[in-house]
Amino acid sequence: MTMGMRSFFSFLAFATTAAAIQELDEASFDQLMGSGKNGMIKFFQPWCGHCTRMKPDWDKLAEEAHSSVFIADVNCSDQAELCEKNDVAGYPTIKVYKDGVDEKYNGARGFDDLMDYVDANLASKCDVSKLEETCGEKAVKYANKWKDREAADVTKEFSRLEGMAGKSMTMELKAWLRERMAILKQLTASASS
Ligand SMILES: *[C@@H]1O[C@H](CO)[C@@H](O)[C@H](O)[C@H]1NC(C)=O
Repeated sequence: MTMGMRSFFSFLAFATTAAAIQELDEASFDQLMGSGKNGMIKFFQPWCGHCTRMKPDWDKLAEEAHSSVFIADVNCSDQAELCEKNDVAGYPTIKVYKDGVDEKYNGARGFDDLMDYVDANLASKCDVSKLEETCGEKAVKYANKWKDREAADVTKEFSRLEGMAGKSMTMELKAWLRERMAILKQLTASASS
């Protein structure tokens, strides 16, 4: 293959990944829920004008959000049951999935507002699938220490940390605790998938 063709194909690959937001069905929804990631989902109808108007900002969010966060769509014309399970009544409904709890997002829907919200509330500093790029030195050490351990040991360590989460501690210690829990959760999710 000539260089020219190769760069043409990598351009194509880039163009398609950049353009496509993930559209979920029941199976991919369940998979995301088990991924240990936080994220947001927009439930839409193809005939809904508000949905169409916010689409450019939303798709841009999907492209630019930190890799530890999922941003996805559900087409409620296609996935009526999934939308019902998520208590979707109006369109669009945006929901936040954070640390195993989901709730309606009622904040502003412009790109900057969404991006600020994701950064402040959902992004984990550390994505273990991109350890060296996204995680601090301490987190890299921690992830490497736990990544080859037995699943049962990792689960036990997670429970230990979870038990500490209710105690009072400095903000800094709390952040490190949350980061370690997020790392362990990602490790167990990638081991079981
Ligand atoms: C949503 O689903 C409907 C019904 O299958 C389909 O006609 C429409 O093209 C879909 N819209 C998008 C944006 O995927």
